Amino acid sequence: MRQYAVFGDPIAHSKSPLLHNRVFLELGVPAFYGRYHLKEPSSLLERFHALGLEGANITVPFKEVAFEQCDEVRGIAQKIGSVNTMVKEGERVIGYNTDAEGFFQTLEGKLRPQNVLILGAGGTAKALAMIFDLHQIPVTILNRTPGRLKPLAEQGFKTLTHEEFAPDSYDLIINSTSAGLSDDSLPLPAPWLESLLHSGVLAYDVIYGKTTPFLRLAKAQGARFQDGREMLISQAALSSLHFTQHHFSLSTLHSLMRLALPQ
Ligand SMILES: NC(=O)c1ccc[n+]([C@@H]2O[C@H](COP(=O)([O-])OP(=O)(O)OC[C@H]3O[C@@H](n4cnc5c(N)ncnc54)[C@H](OP(=O)(O)O)[C@@H]3O)[C@@H](O)[C@H]2O)c1
Repeated sequence: MRQYAVFGDPIAHSKSPLLHNRVFLELGVPAFYGRYHLKEPSSLLERFHALGLEGANITVPFKEVAFEQCDEVRGIAQKIGSVNTMVKEGERVIGYNTDAEGFFQTLEGKLRPQNVLILGAGGTAKALAMIFDLHQIPVTILNRTPGRLKPLAEQGFKTLTHEEFAPDSYDLIINSTSAGLSDDSLPLPAPWLESLLHSGVLAYDVIYGKTTPFLRLAKAQGARFQDGREMLISQAALSSLHFTQHHFSLSTLHSLMRLALPQ
C-alpha cells in the first residue's frame, strides 16, 4: 500500500486526509494518507523518506522549507519559492505548488478582480501574488514583519509594512496569514480592516472550517466573504493529479473531494 501524508505545525485541523483517502477509496487506489506533526523543519525530507512516503502535502509553516529541500522543483513553484506538494519520482523528490492555481480556479466565473490586497507574506501569499501577476492583476502585499516582504519587493511586487499602511480601494482582500487559524486574532488592527471592508469587496480567508474573526468582521461590514474550503478542494485535487499519476480527470478528483467535505 502506498503511503502519503500532510506535514504541518499545527496539523490536527487538516482535512487533507479526508479528501485524499476518499479519492483512494472510491477509485480503488491502494494507498493511505495520514497527518504528520513536524516540529523540526530541517528534518522534513528525512522524515518523508523515513516514513516511506510516495508523496506529501506541506502546510503552514513549512512550504518554503519544502522548496529548499526538494531535489527538484517544477512549474510555478520555481517562481513562487514555496512547495505544497512533494512527489517521489524514482529516488528523487519533486516539488510542486498547487495553491496558486487552486486558489485562482475558485475565482473563475465569480470575480475578475481589478485590485487585490493580500494580507501576509508567507508561502501562501507568495503563491497568490504570483498567480495574480501571471494574470496581470495588480496586487499589493501587506505584512507585519518587513523582512518577509523583501524578496517580494525585489520581484517587483508592491509591498507595504504595517508602518506604511494607508487605506486604499481593493475589490478583493485575502487573509493569507495564519491569524485566526488556531487563535481568535485579526490579521490587521480592526479600524484598518473596517476602512477596507465594505459592500463591493470580497473578503477571502484561506483558512477553512471556521468563521475567522476576519470573516466575522467582513460580514459585519456588509462585505461578501468566503472561507478557504473551495481553495482546499481545488489545491488538493491538483495535488491528487500528481499522486495518482494523472490517471483520473481533475473533475473526477474534484467531485469526490467535494463529497468528502460537506459544506
Ligand atoms: N485553504 C487552503 O487550501 C489553504 C492553502 C494554503 C494555506 N492555507 C492557510 O493559509 C495560512 C498561511 O499559510 P502559510 O503556509 O502561508 O503560512 P506561513 O508561511 O507560516 O506565513 C504565515 C503568515 O502569517 C502572518 N501572521 C501569522 N500570525 C499573524 C498575526 N497574528 N497577525 C498578522 N500576521 C500574522 C505571518 O507574518 P510574519 O511574517 O509577520 O510572521 C506570515 O506572513 C494558514 O492559515 C494555512 O492554513 C489554506
